[in-house]
Amino acid sequence: MKSLDEARALDAADPLRTYRDAFDLPAGEIYLDGNSLGALPRATVARLAGTVRGEWGRDLIRSWNKAGWIDAPARVGGKIAQLIGAQAHEVLVADSTSVNLFKLLAAAVKAQPGRRVILSEPGNFPTDLYVAQGVAETLGAELRLAPREAIVEALDEDVAVLLLTHVHYQSAAMFDMAAITRAAQAKGALVLWDLSHSAGAVAVDLNAANADLAVGCGYKYLNGGPGAPAFLFVAERHQAALRSPLSGWMGHAAPFDFGDDYAPGEGISRFLCGTPPILGLAALEEGVDLLLGADLPALYAKGQALCSAFIDVVEDRCAGLGLTLATPREGATRGSHVSFRHEQGWPIMQALIARGVIGDFRAPDILRFGFTPLYVGFEDVWNAAEILRDILTTGAWDDPAFHARAAVT
Ligand SMILES: Cc1ncc(COP(=O)(O)O)c(C=O)c1O
Repeated sequence: MKSLDEARALDAADPLRTYRDAFDLPAGEIYLDGNSLGALPRATVARLAGTVRGEWGRDLIRSWNKAGWIDAPARVGGKIAQLIGAQAHEVLVADSTSVNLFKLLAAAVKAQPGRRVILSEPGNFPTDLYVAQGVAETLGAELRLAPREAIVEALDEDVAVLLLTHVHYQSAAMFDMAAITRAAQAKGALVLWDLSHSAGAVAVDLNAANADLAVGCGYKYLNGGPGAPAFLFVAERHQAALRSPLSGWMGHAAPFDFGDDYAPGEGISRFLCGTPPILGLAALEEGVDLLLGADLPALYAKGQALCSAFIDVVEDRCAGLGLTLATPREGATRGSHVSFRHEQGWPIMQALIARGVIGDFRAPDILRFGFTPLYVGFEDVWNAAEILRDILTTGAWDDPAFHARAAVT
């Protein structure tokens, strides 16, 4: 992409361009952080008002049956299944990604007697590693880390489960899900994929890859809102054998029998724990419905094109200004965000945010920009790169106000 005119021409030809109006985005800002917190769909505002006033306020407790609240985890899970190549009854919305990681990792280790190792890579998203450490401690297992280039060689007969994030949260590098799954299964290991940066961003086909287990966030590309409930996937063939370590009443075979003894529910339902968060589920359903209405192949192609355009324009316009690309160049091997390293990454990002370009910073030196195809356009790409160039050439980032660290980066 060589000019603003070219960017505008690409936007004019974009079949998804009308989707931007479906979001309540602040005017005058370029929002490049949908990989961290998706934007607010306009329909969500009305949906939540209806759920709060009508279902909660007026119908009260009757809404568990009348409004289908009790079915919401499976219903919304069934919709997310369409985005990740799963069958409807293999996906459930529940808890947070961290809690779902705990449930599935522990279930996987328990289901693999004689195998005590959880294998992952250093630099995986912190919660994945921390939860794996917790599961290892709880079950007397071991967390082994191997660099991604050597992950297949690190698989041996001790590995119960391989835990990987499909699209890396910093670099956006994407694993070949089918190839890694095949290699792990050949060694007798299960694979748990974290799809937090994949679902709604790149084409995912869990069943085609013969995947075992997966988890993912609701608040990123699914636009489910801050702290949205997460999802989990358990392949049909594993559902009868795996048991959730969090054996709460909602995962019981007959929760409303109120018996004293736990008996796991049928199929995926056993991975519920407690009462589902209905307001969060309602918001998430709106976000997912919006995505399901879009032309998904066009959406994924646009995500790749936006990222490629940003890389090209930044490398061209900001050459020699201290930025190093930290994301694969090849579109098919990355997710829908782009990272650049700069030793002054934090103040530069604060200066960008002050100028209305909203990305984020990941320690120690990553400037991260998410390209969410439903509401980001090529003109945004051009303008964001121009503002970045201006901040770097003028040194505007070197203001004391931009150096102070906030709690959330
Ligand atoms: C790969 C990955 N896993 C998990 C999470 C977050 O999990 P939770 O929603 O439990 O905080 C994130 C959040 O950014 C993530 O990037």
